[in-house]
Amino acid sequence: MVHLVLIMMLTVGVSTRACPIMCTCRNYPLDNSQKTSTYFTSVSCSSYTENITDILDNTTRDFEISNLHQQELADTLNNLIENKLDLPYLSNLIITKSEIENLNVSVESLERILSLTLIDNRLESLPEVFLNLQNLQTLDLSHNEIKVIELEPFRTLRTLDVLNLSANSLTKIDSGSFSGLNVLKCLDLSRNNLTKLDDQVLLPLSSLQYLNLSNNRLEALNEVCFSSLIMLQQLDVSWNRLARVAPGSLQLPSLARLLLAGNPQLGRSREAAVLVGTGRRLQTVDASRTGLKQVPAALTHSIRTLRLAGNSIQTINCGDLDSYPLLQLLDFTSNDLEVIEEDAMGRLDSLSVLYLTDNNIHEIPKSLPEKLKVLHLEHNNIQRVSSKDLLGLTGLEVLLLSDNKIRTVDEAAFSQLVSLVTLDLSRNPVTILQPGCLVGPSALQVLRLSSIGIISPAEEVSFPLSAPEHLITLDLCDSSGLARQFLADTATLAASRELQELDLSHTDLEFIRSDLLHYLPQLRVLHIKDNNLNCSHLEWLASWMRRQDEPEYRDIMCASPADLWGTPLVDLQDGELSPIETINQQENNIDREIINLQRENNTNLYQISTGQYTTESTNYISLAQEEIKNVTNITGLIDVTNYTKYFNKGETDFSKSNNPEITNEIEKVNIKKK
Ligand SMILES: *[C@@H]1O[C@H](CO)[C@@H](O)[C@H](O)[C@H]1NC(C)=O
Ligand SMILES: *[C@@H]1O[C@H](CO)[C@@H](O)[C@H](O)[C@H]1NC(C)=O
Ligand SMILES: *[C@@H]1O[C@H](CO)[C@@H](O)[C@H](O)[C@H]1NC(C)=O
Ligand SMILES: *[C@@H]1O[C@H](CO)[C@@H](O)[C@H](O)[C@H]1NC(C)=O
Ligand SMILES: *[C@@H]1O[C@H](CO)[C@@H](O)[C@H](O)[C@H]1NC(C)=O
Ligand SMILES: *[C@@H]1O[C@H](CO)[C@@H](O)[C@H](O)[C@H]1NC(C)=O
Ligand SMILES: *[C@@H]1O[C@H](CO)[C@@H](O)[C@H](O)[C@H]1NC(C)=O
Ligand SMILES: *[C@@H]1O[C@H](CO)[C@@H](O)[C@H](O)[C@H]1NC(C)=O
Ligand SMILES: *[C@@H]1O[C@H](CO)[C@@H](O)[C@H](O)[C@H]1NC(C)=O
Ligand SMILES: *[C@@H]1O[C@H](CO)[C@@H](O)[C@H](O)[C@H]1NC(C)=O
Ligand SMILES: *[C@@H]1O[C@H](CO)[C@@H](O)[C@H](O)[C@H]1NC(C)=O
Repeated sequence: MVHLVLIMMLTVGVSTRACPIMCTCRNYPLDNSQKTSTYFTSVSCSSYTENITDILDNTTRDFEISNLHQQELADTLNNLIENKLDLPYLSNLIITKSEIENLNVSVESLERILSLTLIDNRLESLPEVFLNLQNLQTLDLSHNEIKVIELEPFRTLRTLDVLNLSANSLTKIDSGSFSGLNVLKCLDLSRNNLTKLDDQVLLPLSSLQYLNLSNNRLEALNEVCFSSLIMLQQLDVSWNRLARVAPGSLQLPSLARLLLAGNPQLGRSREAAVLVGTGRRLQTVDASRTGLKQVPAALTHSIRTLRLAGNSIQTINCGDLDSYPLLQLLDFTSNDLEVIEEDAMGRLDSLSVLYLTDNNIHEIPKSLPEKLKVLHLEHNNIQRVSSKDLLGLTGLEVLLLSDNKIRTVDEAAFSQLVSLVTLDLSRNPVTILQPGCLVGPSALQVLRLSSIGIISPAEEVSFPLSAPEHLITLDLCDSSGLARQFLADTATLAASRELQELDLSHTDLEFIRSDLLHYLPQLRVLHIKDNNLNCSHLEWLASWMRRQDEPEYRDIMCASPADLWGTPLVDLQDGELSPIETINQQENNIDREIINLQRENNTNLYQISTGQYTTESTNYISLAQEEIKNVTNITGLIDVTNYTKYFNKGETDFSKSNNPEITNEIEKVNIKKK
């Protein structure tokens, strides 16, 4: 990908020769350094052009044509033949959305290509066009209507690496179809209608590493169908109708990734003996939606990722996971789990990610592995987070408890989670969050407390998170009590200096304290949709929002005062304020917008100094300019009595600094003469 981007960036320009209007012609440097004068050409035509040979030459590497009728395609190829075009560097030929059924020509100038892509041409059988492609490495025939493979069509493609037959109409593949493909590494047969795999079909594919048979209608895998695939690393047989997997059929020495998902009969037949008898390299197994009622046993102990989502597992017993000592990721999403025996997971020493989402779990499982980093418990029936849960999980980084029935969060419930970065308690019937119930996770970056109906009055209780210093995202959407607590809690606000995204939408918000942005210098996105905003004196916010340029801000409407009802907040202008006239500091051109005021004690006297600031740190300076300002350092005392402030701090006036916490703090403001 990076490579591709690089090539795109290094595009030298459009070919000097006239490129027909229906084509695009691009030149790329031959290697990735721009210094070279040699380049290759990539030509792509979206419809027929009679003079195509004019633009193909010994620099052409890629040639793509699409939307051609059968005759146009034949003409194009004949054109190449008649002109005896030499295309020594042509590597990639792409023909799409064209009629190439029954095409049977041999084009000498195309014979050296490495990659042939014939996607989406409604091919019903394999065209003979590529019979002579001695160097072909990649053949993509996906999205056609191929029903049968006859006469060993690939036997001459001795160098083929990748064969893609995905999204065709194959119902059966004859033995011998793949003969000659001794070096094939990748075979995609997904999205066909295969019901059966003959024993011999895959026999020649002794180099195969990737086989995709997903989205077919296979009913059984017999003992020998894969037996020659000794190099196979990835096997995808998901979304079939597998009911039977013969013992031994998956005993493949190189198999590392086995995808069995979406075969609902599989687990029912014989309690999931599927994984008994797989090779010792197996690392990833997806047995989601396979009708399992129990954790399947496995003989190999090498599995690191096990997905069992969408099954009917009700219990995880002690010992069930003994076959998986190296497990790092375990997914039980959407099962019927109710009981997880106390030590069922305790011995999974490497487990780092555990999904228990969408089950019927009533309490947070005990004795979770110490190394756990990510714990998904959303959509369960958990009623309480007690201080005895989550013990010892000092490495836990992500804890998701949203959409449960949690009414109580004990004090210090999270106290041991010192590494926690993300916590989601949204949509739980919690009515009280004691101050300090979120003590412990001192590095928390994302806190989601959406749709929580706290009933405690805002003024009396401080916001429950005690250490917001690293908070980046705070979601209080639809939690009006918490939103009010947060906005009223100046200490917490003042500590949230890293906050970048704050969601206060749908929280019955009427007023927004005018110093909000002052406390949250890093704020980038403020969600305040669906409130009853009183827009008097919100010009500062409007002007900040205009600078943020978030599309959703267009939907924030004023609810009052009456003359602003229905007005988008962003349209508020600081109407009555005249352009800034800053205090004239001596003769030099002091940058107008940026002035420091340091309050002298509790008087109206301010120490002025100016300096160099970026707009980054001065969110609330109106008319802020983008570039860094260089201004002379001037200090002096000024009595602000006769100046009105012109800064987006709205109502906050200098006397606001009576708040001992911000007295004498340097403020950056605009000032204009009254
Ligand atoms: C193709 O080339 C011929 C002569 O070289 C010219 O007369 C004709 O207009 C060209 N057609 C197109 C579509 O460029
Ligand atoms: C490509 O063809 C041109 C003449 O058409 C010739 O001058 C040039 O050397 C050829 N380049 C290569 C790499 O063969
Ligand atoms: C394709 O053409 C070759 C010779 O030009 C011929 O031997 C072969 O039978 C043809 N194949 C089809 C399917 O028409
Ligand atoms: C095969 O083609 C399909 C559709 O064009 C594509 O999605 C898939 O990734 C390809 N398979 C491989 C292995 O490249
Ligand atoms: C597979 O077969 C079914 C029924 O015979 C048919 O409806 C469906 O279109 C076929 N799918 C493909 C990709 O050919
Ligand atoms: C197999 O093919 C299906 C459908 O084309 C695709 O969604 C899936 O990702 C592929 N599997 C692998 C392992 O690449
Ligand atoms: C809106 O706020 C202004 C100033 O804070 C106040 O005078 C006015 O009464 C408020 N309007 C409503 C409808 O609350
Ligand atoms: C502010 O207080 C300090 C001592 O607390 C005093 O020295 C200084 O003179 C005071 N400044 C003004 C302008 O009152
Ligand atoms: C600010 O002034 C310094 C020293 O005079 C100078 O090096 C720097 O380039 C100036 N910065 C800008 C953005 O003008
Ligand atoms: C500006 O003044 C401050 C104190 O008011 C001082 O720390 C700083 O060094 C001064 N900067 C310059 C460039 O003189
Ligand atoms: C403020 O203005 C009044 C009237 O114009 C004037 O008497 C007073 O001296 C001024 N105060 C200061 C500190 O400039």
